[in-house]
Amino acid sequence: MIRTRMEKKLRLGILGSGKGSNFAAILREVQAGKLNVEIVAVASDIPGAGILDLAEAAGLPHALFAETQFRTKLTPEVETALADYLKNAGADWLILAGYMRVIKSPLLDTFPGKIINIHPSLLPKFRGLAAWKQALDAGETEAGCTVHFVDSGVDTGKIIAQAKVPIFPGDTAESVHARIQVEEHRIYPEVIAQIVRGEIS
Ligand code: GRF
Repeated sequence: MIRTRMEKKLRLGILGSGKGSNFAAILREVQAGKLNVEIVAVASDIPGAGILDLAEAAGLPHALFAETQFRTKLTPEVETALADYLKNAGADWLILAGYMRVIKSPLLDTFPGKIINIHPSLLPKFRGLAAWKQALDAGETEAGCTVHFVDSGVDTGKIIAQAKVPIFPGDTAESVHARIQVEEHRIYPEVIAQIVRGEIS
């Protein structure tokens, strides 16, 4: 008798605050059978965020962890509840896909060394908000995106992968960001596939 070894799939929690195009890119790969992971929980801090609608449409568990006190982080109680939600869902790794709050110890301690983020610049250049606009305003001729580990700083963690795009004369912030996002949607699923293969830890 031939026995198939059933390997436990890597289980992902995904956080996002926006339209969720990176989440959509990851989901496409999963649904196409090209990325052998299970998305066990999707969460957002923004009511009505596109990422929650996408999770709903895909029949994936999702939840809102809204914040009223702070703009750039969660109160420790809310972040602890979010960490518990992800842990109880069985998430092994946490994927930040456009999540706009700084991650603090409740999540860092729950997923030590297992949180990654995608940032729309060639880090270490242009940390923080609207990084594509920062690159354009600085007169750069190229921009890009970076997948990196998350630590307690803002976009300071160890770099895993980068992709470059050109900035052309006449570009707008929107056109640069759109060009970057094409690369984001390519490299983020690729990095997750590397994690699945045990090539990144
Ligand atoms: C992306 O540009 C990502 O680099 C940044 O936030 C944006 C999220 O976009 N962290 P989306 O919600 O995945 O479309």
